[in-house]
Amino acid sequence: MATNTRPESKGGKVRSFGENIESDLASRFLRVVEVAAIASAHTMGQGERKLSDQVATEAMRQTMDSIPMRGTIVIGEGERDEAPMLYIGEKVGAEFSDGTDVPEVDIAVDPLEGTNLCATGAPGAITVLAASERGGLLNAPDCYMDKIVVGPSCKDAVDLDAPVADNLKNIAKRLERDVEDLVVIVLDRPRHEKLIAEIRAAGARIRLIGDGDLSAGIAAAVIGTGVHAVMGSGGAPEGVITAAAIRCLNGYMQGRLVINKPELEERIARMGIKDKNRVYEAEDLAPGKQLIFAATGVTEGALLKGVRFFGEGTRTSSVIMTLQTGKVRFIDSIHLEKGPDVKVRFA
Ligand code: FBP
Repeated sequence: MATNTRPESKGGKVRSFGENIESDLASRFLRVVEVAAIASAHTMGQGERKLSDQVATEAMRQTMDSIPMRGTIVIGEGERDEAPMLYIGEKVGAEFSDGTDVPEVDIAVDPLEGTNLCATGAPGAITVLAASERGGLLNAPDCYMDKIVVGPSCKDAVDLDAPVADNLKNIAKRLERDVEDLVVIVLDRPRHEKLIAEIRAAGARIRLIGDGDLSAGIAAAVIGTGVHAVMGSGGAPEGVITAAAIRCLNGYMQGRLVINKPELEERIARMGIKDKNRVYEAEDLAPGKQLIFAATGVTEGALLKGVRFFGEGTRTSSVIMTLQTGKVRFIDSIHLEKGPDVKVRFA
């Protein structure tokens, strides 16, 4: 297990997250997800989901500590007593003793989204994080969230409380096609039996996935991926990170926490959430004025290619988005590891 390499806080000045900082940190966070993806991709197909997650977490943690920031993990690998690193409340980042300004940043991480996918070499595993100024990401409990995610053309066209058939009709209308032409992604879980039956009855096509509703949500908000909506319940932490991406992509989503245990009731009460049935939109889940979303493909996916190792290096496919500066960048990186004889191929 990697040791905590974070330098002691030296009390540098703190500045608020500004436009330049958003741009500066975006490239640094890109490195964080790239490094984590490369680490976990080495374990692809080994059937060791915990190991895959652990190496991604360690790589992410270590790289974050090279970033000049006062970072706080608000969504991570679990509570302090259950996760050795990247736990909720953990401080990350490098600070400087000379009083250099460093931004205060809240960070939501999923070091390896789709641990089973990586462990079995199945498509759709990514490393992912979202960052914002303090308070810009809901500190969601580790419970399920009912979600519906769609692209920019379907803003306000769906409602978690509406019948599935009505939502599909509205999506189809906005996309100027028939319901039969829609593709909806749903996590393949027994709890979705009724939802799946309703989508089928409405006539839409379904893509059942084993894991990874976060990357599915991003795909739904990008035209040309062949995905028109994501429906069903998945992790609430994943929902918050999805919301950061959805805001950058100008998509639309609704989410509602599934509070079905007394300890969750207590947890949300501590968070100050009074209405457990509240329907959140992306702006509620990721309300930051400045947001950074970064993800790298670990295994092949609809939007991002998986990590490829070749003789002299490694190739990664990432997306990095910033809200305030309005940028969505797809980054194809070649990480050269060997000497001067290296050859780089265009595609
Ligand atoms: P991991 O990254 O922990 O493997 O989670 C993957 C995932 O499929 C998420 O994409 C999804 O939100 C959640 O798990 C669903 O949880 P469950 O497997 O309990 O249905």
